[in-house]
Amino acid sequence: MAKEEIKKRIEKLKEEINYHNYLYHVLDNPMISDESYDDLFKELRKLENANPQLKTEDSPTQKTGGDALNEFKKVKHQKKMLSLNDLKTKDEFKDWDERVKKLIIENGFSLSNNSEYYCEYKFDGLAISLIYEKGVFSLGATRGDGEVGEDITDNLKTVRTIPLKLFAERRIKDALNKYDLGRLAENVLQGLNNKIEIRGEIIIDKKEFKKINKDQEKKGLPIYSNPRNLAAGSIRQLDSNITRGRKLIFNGYDLVTDLGQKTHKESHILLEVLGFKANNNINKICDNVQDVFGFYDEIMQKRDKLEFEIDGIVVQINRINVFEKLGLIGKGPRAGIAFKFPPIEGVSKVVDVKWQVGRTGVLTPVAFLEPIRIGGARVTRSTLHNKEEIKRLGLKIGDTVIVTRSGDVIPKILKVLTSMRIGDEKDIEIPNKCPMCGSKVVFDKSGILIRCDNLQCPGRNEGYLNHFVSRQAFNIKGLGDKILKKLVDECLVTDVSDLFDLEEGDLKVLDRFGEKSSQNIITNINKSKNININKFIFALGIPNIGKESAEIIANRLLKLGKIKNPAKLLKLARELSEEDFDDLPDFGETMAKSVFEYFNSEHTKKLFDKLNKAGILIESQKALVNQKLKDLKFLFSGELDSMPRTKAQEMVKQRGGVIKETVTKTLDYLVVGSKPGSKLEKAKKLGVKVLDEKEFLKLIK
Ligand code: IVH
Repeated sequence: MAKEEIKKRIEKLKEEINYHNYLYHVLDNPMISDESYDDLFKELRKLENANPQLKTEDSPTQKTGGDALNEFKKVKHQKKMLSLNDLKTKDEFKDWDERVKKLIIENGFSLSNNSEYYCEYKFDGLAISLIYEKGVFSLGATRGDGEVGEDITDNLKTVRTIPLKLFAERRIKDALNKYDLGRLAENVLQGLNNKIEIRGEIIIDKKEFKKINKDQEKKGLPIYSNPRNLAAGSIRQLDSNITRGRKLIFNGYDLVTDLGQKTHKESHILLEVLGFKANNNINKICDNVQDVFGFYDEIMQKRDKLEFEIDGIVVQINRINVFEKLGLIGKGPRAGIAFKFPPIEGVSKVVDVKWQVGRTGVLTPVAFLEPIRIGGARVTRSTLHNKEEIKRLGLKIGDTVIVTRSGDVIPKILKVLTSMRIGDEKDIEIPNKCPMCGSKVVFDKSGILIRCDNLQCPGRNEGYLNHFVSRQAFNIKGLGDKILKKLVDECLVTDVSDLFDLEEGDLKVLDRFGEKSSQNIITNINKSKNININKFIFALGIPNIGKESAEIIANRLLKLGKIKNPAKLLKLARELSEEDFDDLPDFGETMAKSVFEYFNSEHTKKLFDKLNKAGILIESQKALVNQKLKDLKFLFSGELDSMPRTKAQEMVKQRGGVIKETVTKTLDYLVVGSKPGSKLEKAKKLGVKVLDEKEFLKLIK
């Protein structure tokens, strides 16, 4: 970026971040997720660090926090509500584990039993504290700054999973016995007569999120950017009736009051016994790092399918005395950690919008993005569905956008950060011609769908992709019918050359597509980039050109010069006239016309440019005809009648055979023509099979 551009971008970022600070802290209605906010913040910090002269006092990087909303009564927490330190990778986790183990020993504990971890979901919601006096819900508060929160009792009373009264005596005893925790009965009953504090997370499920946003949209009200913001917004409503209307869910994860529990697991059991949702059937004790990784991977796999959002797992030392003894570091305990999943949202820039022709002829706009990683996958494009969606988003080329994989698997543009515009963004043009074949387009009745009416349009040719990847052509294994269909439907591939742009991330986000199979397909695609010339020409799917005629075209082109890549091939092919093609053996008028038109069309030029860019390398040695003579060793001696010896040798090679120079015991065949010489004698001596020309021709047929 040029200096002037950097300056502009910094100014825009500052404005944008300040605006989101205001939405979050003052209006309590953030429009973007924390992750996207972090992306903007990181970009600003990076630009400022690289250009310190552009750093100003008023930059959001120089300040944290914001102004608090002053509407709720303040509540001082009896015990500080801590946060958790984060980590994001397995390596970071390993380091943390080592540090914790060292601390356990330094604090005088042995590792056995004391180093067990309690692992659970990290809910993406809002932390709250609940106080029960004599078993009755008396105070609910937000975390606030950890020391002082806000009294949101009335709102919390409307949440179904927050009991107004804790479970009664008799039930408690039975339940404790069920979990072999009868020893705690007395403490719990005492607690029920005094005060009990519980902490946990308020969340809202994805379905409810979608429903509420639809309602908001209908009413012309602002849309919540993710379930967490909606949960936060719902719980901090001044009118509890609004909170009541939203199906919030409370998940308990900590019992602050000491009721005799020795482990975090026991705290969780007590939460359930007292009447809270505590997820004991999911949470897990892990003895070692590998177990934690197993739990992390398992939950990450399930993440998209869960009804609510989680952004990682929480891992804590299970034994409470050890946990407490290890103390604090930064904003959280030393013995607990938020092991976060890769984010599912990020900020990117739209570099281009192209219209792709689908199998039904419908033109779909696709946004090409500056590559970003979302949820562990690289994202480079996102379907815009139709022109209405472009209008709804108000999108222009060059816009900074929020991209998400949240809920849906396929990346989509969530919103445009219009205030990031610098003035050189371009409107997206609605095409009046098909980008593939140049035919005129037609609009459907609703005016939303644009269709190419040319039934022969290459974009519509459903079988073409299948043909292109087939064994006789590019031979890309793993790309079956269903996958190709999906790739086309999701606009990841419309033109065969798009196959070579695919990345693991593009495949991974398709339904039921594992990491391993995505990797394999990408490897196969890369392997296919070195292709024999006959197969390459056959793969093009030129009308009326089959395998044999492709080979004839290849031979003709090779006479004109060396061919290493698609660009050179096209250059040579364009030197030939329709008559030249007509003169080829077994070529008729129709075939010649078809080949000539194919090589000279504008669409073919574009396709070849893309294939060339993709790094396709054309190999000119002849392809194997079959594997009939696989690994069989041949030697020729004497002159043949029907063809030169070199031709016969070539025929053997094309069928997988090997040509030898000397007669040995391991030779499979000696082929003899006239005047065979001493080789025949030697072969007979060693018992090598001898063929005359006729027998040889019969063998290879
Ligand atoms: S334990 C010492 N357990 O994550 C702090 N927190 O980044 C005790 N969170 O502020 C927190 N799920 O709002 C804990 N299973 C879970 C959680 C969880 C979500 C939130 C919580 C906390 C934040 C820390």
